[in-house]
Amino acid sequence: MSVPAAPIILAIETSCDETAAAVLRGDELLSSRIASQTLIHSEFGGVVPEVASRNHLAKVAPIIGEALRAANILPEQIDCVAATRGPGLLTSLLVGYSFGKGLAIGLGKPFIGVNHIEAHLLSPFFGHKTGPRRSIGLVVSGGHTLLIRLEKVGHYEVIGSTLDDAAGEAFDKVGKLLGLPYPGGPQIDILARRGDRTRFDFPRPMTGSGNFNFSFSGIKTSVRYLLPKLEGDYLPDVAASFQESVVDSLVRKTMAAAAKCESNLVTVSGGVSCNSRLRQKMKEAAERMGKCLLLATPALTTDNATMIGYVGLQRLLAGEKSDLGLDADPNLVIGAGKDR
Ligand code: KG4
Ligand code: ZN
Repeated sequence: MSVPAAPIILAIETSCDETAAAVLRGDELLSSRIASQTLIHSEFGGVVPEVASRNHLAKVAPIIGEALRAANILPEQIDCVAATRGPGLLTSLLVGYSFGKGLAIGLGKPFIGVNHIEAHLLSPFFGHKTGPRRSIGLVVSGGHTLLIRLEKVGHYEVIGSTLDDAAGEAFDKVGKLLGLPYPGGPQIDILARRGDRTRFDFPRPMTGSGNFNFSFSGIKTSVRYLLPKLEGDYLPDVAASFQESVVDSLVRKTMAAAAKCESNLVTVSGGVSCNSRLRQKMKEAAERMGKCLLLATPALTTDNATMIGYVGLQRLLAGEKSDLGLDADPNLVIGAGKDR
């Protein structure tokens, strides 16, 4: 299979509640479009899988059409189609993954099924000419909190993960306890800016565990027990103190992992990496420890198709394409050579 040096890649992402499409020419982004369902699901306080898949079905073709028009690319110019294979909600994944496969077959072009976690992990490298390189990556989203040692593209080792809630999930659940609209993460970030982060000393679970695992459900429980005892305008202080304890444990473990693995480069990605306090504390810690830090640019933190296209590009340039017989996999893992 001969691959142009800067192939045109159409990327599709439908793993949860964002229908997204992007067009890349090599590592240059030509267009990116995201149809968010946040407002639809906020009515229910969380993502309803059947509602999500029905909305993906309605949006997937129009959003791809929009991305192609914005990029000024005709379908026949596409060199490869990449779509998220997993992990995620099966009924959501199936929409973009099946659409992508069908399109690739119709165009007679290679198809690449992409691991959503790998896409988050590599997203901080997008726009950097050196490409993905040896590092410790914190992937912190609504579904995952993982510390991953990246040797090179395709060579990943998970060295830590959450034992209960993902960090984003904890933000969203505490947001609900505080009566904030879904998703709670960005709301807590905003509210915390006018709060006192030292007022409540929430636990920092697992920080003395000697490993790189996380636990967030205990912090959430502490918030639940505290709330009935409070009076007045306490929300900003609770938000700031809760955020501080989550951020603290993320930063400490990530820097400990970088020290242990003797990695000079640390990356942070996923929806929660948009959090302003996490970005600030990561920068301070990296500076203190003499580590280089790559944070995903805000537009690439929450789910998007650019990061899917970027993994597609790496795979395509490595001469790979996916077996069309493979199904979407809601439980796809990363590492141990099982991430494709
Ligand atoms: O990566 P993402 O879009 O979806 C998953 O793959 O899970 O992440 C969504 C998560 C949600 O839990 C959301 O509350 C959280 O990222 N999030 C934030 C912020 N922006 C998004 N959490 C804290 N602070 C933010 N600014
Ligand atoms: Zn994600």
